[in-house]
Amino acid sequence: MSHPDGIAPHGGELINRIVTGAQREEFLSKAEFLPRVQLDERAVSDLQLIAIGGFSPLTGFMGKADYDRVVEEMHLANGLPWSIPVTLSVTEEVAAPLQEGSLVRLDDSAGRYIGVLQLSEKYTYDKAREAVKVYRTDEEKHPGVAVVYAQGNVNLAGEVWLLERDPHPLFPSYQIDPAVSRAAFREKGWKTVVGFQTRNPIHRAHEYIIKCALETVDGLFLHPLVGATKEDDISADIRMRCYEIMLEHYFPNDRVILAINPAAMRYAGPREAIFHALVRKNYGCTHFIVGRDHAGVGDYYGTYDAQYIFDEFEPGALGIQPLKFEHAFYCTRTQGMATTKTSPSLPEERIHLSGTKVREMLRRGELPPPEFSRPEVAAELAKAMKV
Ligand code: ADX
Repeated sequence: MSHPDGIAPHGGELINRIVTGAQREEFLSKAEFLPRVQLDERAVSDLQLIAIGGFSPLTGFMGKADYDRVVEEMHLANGLPWSIPVTLSVTEEVAAPLQEGSLVRLDDSAGRYIGVLQLSEKYTYDKAREAVKVYRTDEEKHPGVAVVYAQGNVNLAGEVWLLERDPHPLFPSYQIDPAVSRAAFREKGWKTVVGFQTRNPIHRAHEYIIKCALETVDGLFLHPLVGATKEDDISADIRMRCYEIMLEHYFPNDRVILAINPAAMRYAGPREAIFHALVRKNYGCTHFIVGRDHAGVGDYYGTYDAQYIFDEFEPGALGIQPLKFEHAFYCTRTQGMATTKTSPSLPEERIHLSGTKVREMLRRGELPPPEFSRPEVAAELAKAMKV
């Protein structure tokens, strides 16, 4: 689809729900009179992503028709592909006094008034169905399923407004919203841009697949997720320093834009890969990297399930091209990064470490080997894990 910025946002229009001017003043003047709902960290992320257009075409939290079709069929009620419910779940006690059709004040966890919901609908939903359909498991130890089970039984739906786009407290210079990333790609003359989702410290397999992709497109949008992650994931500030180090030493700076993705991690594997791709399309990417066990956790998903799921959509329906990569490793026989597509190695000639293994090594004060991690990144991780 053609668009002045290159690739069209999902649904054709980049949504902007940041309220300004008289309407904002009016919302502010009602601060004391509106019923309040307090958002958790994920809901705040979702509100922001809706407001900045990262979740285009969503203009608010999903109503029942969208929710049901997304859960059952990976499409919105209007037929557009969408794989993850974006809902505002509250307890029955919180929902009971709220009137459909009225405005609701949205507060962050510190009680700050950050947005408004035009409540169009309240509905209950089946948590086990959402777990099984979206996460492919109803086991409560799955971190995404645990969130669903812990949240309230009622979804509040309706259009939202964000009162202010605050600079990110930790990474203000990397807060590059979709309208800005689109303008940056245009300014750089990039016709093709590959988006890279990540929630882990950058290692050499990441670098390898990114660079393979970058050989074939004009630019890289390095887009680490910095919203809520599970307890044992490495924190965003440490990860961001690792990306900065990589850009300083190992990438041509004029071909990379580093920006934060404010989203919360769902760990929904295949479904989340589709979601991650659509969000990056909204940021202006034409291509999206999907490697091994994308957005996976534990053993819940097959290594390449997050790639196969793209085949469930008609060609062109998603409007962004997945670039699929096999499990990459350092090959001692050919002395370079590779996959089984490009190396004749035997399993014992392949060096790859799991995130868990690396965290254990770092906690013991050991550095991951240079075949796994660039030394500058390993040193930064070791420093960060010590304090
Ligand atoms: S994720 O939850 O964001 O997917 P991670 O940051 O580890 O986790 O991965 C970022 C991207 O790199 C994902 O597309 C993932 O599939 C891919 N990836 C991670 N490690 C490898 C590897 N060894 N080989 C191929 N792809 C990988």
